[in-house]
Amino acid sequence: MKFLIINGPNLNMLGIREPGIYGKQDFAYLLDYVKQACDDAGVECETFQSNHEGAIVDRIQEAYGKIDGIVINPAAYTHTSVAILDALKSVGIPTVEVHISDINSREEFRKHSYVSLAAKKTIAGHGIPGYREAILWLADELRK
Ligand code: DQA
Repeated sequence: MKFLIINGPNLNMLGIREPGIYGKQDFAYLLDYVKQACDDAGVECETFQSNHEGAIVDRIQEAYGKIDGIVINPAAYTHTSVAILDALKSVGIPTVEVHISDINSREEFRKHSYVSLAAKKTIAGHGIPGYREAILWLADELRK
């Protein structure tokens, strides 16, 4: 079983970016953490980060027929991108949405997620451990 972990814009700035909200761990830490979680779940893992909406759409399309599960933190595109929603719906790959912060207890505009319309589950506000939760949950779900 192979998972694709996608991170959207500005998540490469973890550790520098608003540490009071997103924590002090950097993006390299997140990637190591995610790879360890995939190992623990017994799944192969590919990771992808982009600051560009179209690049994320392209990567989701490329996953068709090759990837069994997607864990995505679309970052700011969560709240704006019909294109990422449509890409996820197009490929039909089971997806879990993750947010480091609790998008429901921040600004009003963060409460709406387009991507959640294509996600089997959304995990928000659990910090970086939310990615592990997503990976383990999706692996269990797909083995049912
Ligand atoms: C985020 C929340 C989004 O609202 C924000 O734009 C991000 C990160 C999170 O992980 O908490 O860039 O997805």
